[in-house]
Amino acid sequence: MIEKKQSKIRVLVVFGTRPEAIKMAPIVNELKTRKSIETVVCISGQHREMLNQVLDTFEITPDYNLDIMKDQQTLFDITTAILSKVQIVLNNVKPDLVLVHGDTTTTFATALASFYLNIPIGHVEAGLRTNDVYSPFPEEFNRRSVSLISTLDFAPTETARENLISEGKNENNIWVTGNTAIDALKSTIDPNYTDENLEWVDNRRLIIVTAHRRENLGVPMVNMFKAIKRVLDENEDVCAIYPIHLNPQIRKLAYSIFRHEDRIKLIDPLDVVEFHNYMNKSYLILTDSGGIQEEAPSLGKPVLVMRETTERPEGIKAGTLKLVGIEEESIYKEFSKLLTDHDTYKKMTKLKNPYGDGTASKKIADIIELNFRNKNN
Ligand code: UD1
Ligand code: UDP
Repeated sequence: MIEKKQSKIRVLVVFGTRPEAIKMAPIVNELKTRKSIETVVCISGQHREMLNQVLDTFEITPDYNLDIMKDQQTLFDITTAILSKVQIVLNNVKPDLVLVHGDTTTTFATALASFYLNIPIGHVEAGLRTNDVYSPFPEEFNRRSVSLISTLDFAPTETARENLISEGKNENNIWVTGNTAIDALKSTIDPNYTDENLEWVDNRRLIIVTAHRRENLGVPMVNMFKAIKRVLDENEDVCAIYPIHLNPQIRKLAYSIFRHEDRIKLIDPLDVVEFHNYMNKSYLILTDSGGIQEEAPSLGKPVLVMRETTERPEGIKAGTLKLVGIEEESIYKEFSKLLTDHDTYKKMTKLKNPYGDGTASKKIADIIELNFRNKNN
């Protein structure tokens, strides 16, 4: 039972990393249009520059910044810093509802703190599962833990909803809304977009590369980069752009493996408008990212997912995504194949919208209003 403490519904939105910000920004901006809702934004600062890029793009000024990021931060650092600092914000704001997103450590620690203070939790992008608690690590644990204590679950797809029901969650508190990533995508794509990196591509086929997963640091990432290098060396009409995550470990490795490669551009993280438009101009994408797996089907861009599991089976079913593992040979083989086998490539380019039609934020705001209105009338 949700109890409202003041005349407006006070919603505290908490996020801390780039993907959370991209997918929460459309919700923050939608909530702010609602007269019955008071929206308060708290960033954990788990990311700094990569988060600021998104805040600037969507013109969001946080009310609170826990500012916790440090170099080489461990899961202990992130969890303990957020847990103690967010407690102060929760006590100060006294929200009716805390909204968290997905599966990061910011999400987990904020949900735990809200639970300790008996504050209802709304979980955006709820119900994604690989069913392997170590993959991705620690994200699968984070999202499952939040599901234990969340009050309102906003599932992006029917599959996610079913996952939650099979774990015993009350189906009356789960809504299939689509994914807010698609809301963001609707406002960023410009068919005429270009810049000097895209001009450098000329008429070659553009490959977009990203990699950052914690469990892929070390040998798996070496495998990925070596496989990509081999394919680039063998295909002269192909070039790649790799906006490298700001994690120094990843940057060091990427620069060392690709240092003599002139057909890959290693650049800093792109802002979301740039990145979405680069994806839109690409031939295919190689990544271990979660969010990119959601965006690519809407753009009809094939993605080779350099992971052993995915929590996004809808993209596989739609035919846009293919899991290629983390071994050099398997990545090399599948990447080469997609460059030469045009029938297979074509099948992966069909436009699909398994993650919704871009109205998820509106639905989430409606559900919040409805829930509190019903409970208080
Ligand atoms: C985090 C999330 C992951 C999400 C990813 C999105 C956890 C445990 N991991 O992983 O689920 O997929 O974000 O990108 O919550 N750094 C900067 N500036 C920034 C951002 C990061 O310098 O703006 C560097 C810092 O040195 C930091 C390191 O990157 O210590 C790693 O950041 P962290 O948030 O711990 O891990 P991610 O791999 O980004
Ligand atoms: N993205 C971006 N700039 C980049 C690379 C990615 O804005 O240089 C966006 C991308 O469009 C997607 C999100 O960042 O919306 C994915 O974030 P990331 O891969 O860091 O995290 P994950 O989704 O794996 O949690």
